[in-house]
Amino acid sequence: RKRVVAFVSGGGSNMLALARACEAADYPAEIVAVFSDKPEAGGLAKAQALRIPTRVFERKAFGSKAEHEAAILAALAEIGPDLICLAGYMRLLSGDFIRAYEGKILNIHPSLLPLFPGLHTHQRAIDAGMKVAGCTVHFVTEGMDEGPVIAQAVVPVLIDDTAEALAARVLTVEHQTYAAALKLVASGGVTMRADGSVERLASETDANVR
Ligand code: GAR
Repeated sequence: RKRVVAFVSGGGSNMLALARACEAADYPAEIVAVFSDKPEAGGLAKAQALRIPTRVFERKAFGSKAEHEAAILAALAEIGPDLICLAGYMRLLSGDFIRAYEGKILNIHPSLLPLFPGLHTHQRAIDAGMKVAGCTVHFVTEGMDEGPVIAQAVVPVLIDDTAEALAARVLTVEHQTYAAALKLVASGGVTMRADGSVERLASETDANVR
């Protein structure tokens, strides 16, 4: 089983979904630690309830972004994870950090990338008159929300939708999509090459269609 460290800043429902998926005997990954930049993140309590070790790295405890990331990288080096899953981690990782775990960092974003990267995705989708929205799990590269797509899922945008209602609808499909994407990557069905291109084993692609 591939050893995964999950990074959270908020409620941690995606981390919880991954941890639950990992409980299946045939699931190819396990969450060995949860890191957060927010001591109040609900994801920390959820991890502790599952007896998953947690670490907090508050940005303000460090003089610079580089020192903050160096502390996180040092803690990761002690663990030696195979993969890192960003699960509502609201901080941009530097190029140096990403290169240290090239092709091993996954992120979930609550839009159909490449549409609506960054913040306020749901309101922007509504304002654009979109009739569908969704989520994307992708490999993390230096550009924000730009890495190659591993899996996506779609939900309708309803008449008179609010950003909050749409976010909740998208979140329900995020959980299954992230679990499916991590399974694909951890099993070797999808890999990112050094040049940023993605290789998909034909036998694994169907699991990616939702
Ligand atoms: C999720 O909707 C996730 O896609 C989003 O934050 C939420 C975290 O929820 N991530 C981003 O916006 C990343 N830019 P969770 O803490 O309950 O998993």
